[in-house]
Amino acid sequence: MTLTDRDRAVQAAIAQGLVSPGQPVAGFLDIPGIRRSAAELRSAFEEFTAPGAPVLHAFAVKAASLVPVLRLLAQEGLGCEVASPGELALARAAGVPARHTVLDSPAKTLAELREALALGIAVNVDNHEELARIDRMMASAPSTAPIGLRINPQLGGGAIGAMSTATDTSKFGVPLRDAGARDWIVRAFLDRPWLTRLHGHVGSQGMPLERMAEGVRALYELAEEVNEKAGRAQITTLDIGGGLPVNFSSDAVSPTYRDYAAVLRSAVPGLFSGRYGLVTEFGRSLLAKHGTVLARVEYAKWAGGRPIALTHAGAQVATRTVFAPESWPLRVAAYDAAGRPKTGAPVPQDIAGPCCFAGDLVAENRPLPLLESGDHAALLDTGAYYFSTHFAYNSLPRPGVYGYATAPDGSVRFATVRTPQTLEEITAESGGAQANELRRLGLG
Ligand SMILES: Cc1ncc(COP(=O)(O)O)c(C=O)c1O
Repeated sequence: MTLTDRDRAVQAAIAQGLVSPGQPVAGFLDIPGIRRSAAELRSAFEEFTAPGAPVLHAFAVKAASLVPVLRLLAQEGLGCEVASPGELALARAAGVPARHTVLDSPAKTLAELREALALGIAVNVDNHEELARIDRMMASAPSTAPIGLRINPQLGGGAIGAMSTATDTSKFGVPLRDAGARDWIVRAFLDRPWLTRLHGHVGSQGMPLERMAEGVRALYELAEEVNEKAGRAQITTLDIGGGLPVNFSSDAVSPTYRDYAAVLRSAVPGLFSGRYGLVTEFGRSLLAKHGTVLARVEYAKWAGGRPIALTHAGAQVATRTVFAPESWPLRVAAYDAAGRPKTGAPVPQDIAGPCCFAGDLVAENRPLPLLESGDHAALLDTGAYYFSTHFAYNSLPRPGVYGYATAPDGSVRFATVRTPQTLEEITAESGGAQANELRRLGLG
């Protein structure tokens, strides 16, 4: 059997004790794979963009809130799209410069806005009230930070409702098709010479490329209209968001960044003319295929005639998969106690997690070689969001995350990306230092 890099990493992780009876679950990231994806993203846009036109690929930090990963991507020439003070702190800790950082989020506080403007971070304004806040800030402390307005082109949703940001009633951005909205947006630009960007993010997983491109076309046409009415190139930059869907059913990368860039070029030829700088905000598509969650099978049992593997990877790491399995199905690979791919006739079985609720299943009735206690289950394509969407139920710790690189001789080296959360850390974040505080209420 030919082993993949992932198979080798699984075997080495077990041999080196990164996954063990005492640490029964961990995450792994294929570092050369991530670098390849970053290079593919860069070259796809370079191929289509006029020479010299500025393009910033700002990685959506929500997809992997891990400082070493942000630094790796920065070394690959990427910036960060942040959507909270925490994400901004991570980008800064990774050394991502302000000029490569973009702040989105629909509920930025005054303090967040002040900090971003003072640092010179690009801010995408979500709504008219936020714009009024920025007006007051610009009047009292003018900033040269690039400021844009997020538009919802209201084109409809994709296959996953929760990921669809361009529905009529989406909470994000200024709805472009509501009565009077377009005129209001154009006026907003004409009245504010410092408003120089348009931002849109039509949606993520489950969104057809053509609809994403339609959203970008709506942005482009609006920018053209504003610039024509302004009599100058007021809008200099289009931030086209992220959202390239990921194939979760095989190892194939499909669609590719090049596929998307080609669709964009045919739907919005002017986008790459060089008249606009571009910002992208891809998250999932950069990392998903390069991550694996590896969990020990603690017990194997049967119920109602069905085999069940009780593993240590459930809702705490695969939160979306457990709560919305139709939208976020994952491939599972079976490995034996030493991390060798399991062979044997596929048997439909449940792959369950450690959480104390019945629905904590990452795969239901899935045909796989029968898992036994001491074996391992690997959740594939989990490089994006699975290490940043932790669920703290049952006070289960956030697992360690390790980067790996495989040498041509098959040897695997690991580097720690995130240490496993300790029980002391869980106790501390659960009010451990306040154990006596409730006594102050004097009720007992
Ligand atoms: C504003 C914004 N940009 C970028 C992204 C990243 O999307 P994806 O991970 O699908 O590429 C998101 C995610 O929802 C987002 O809300």
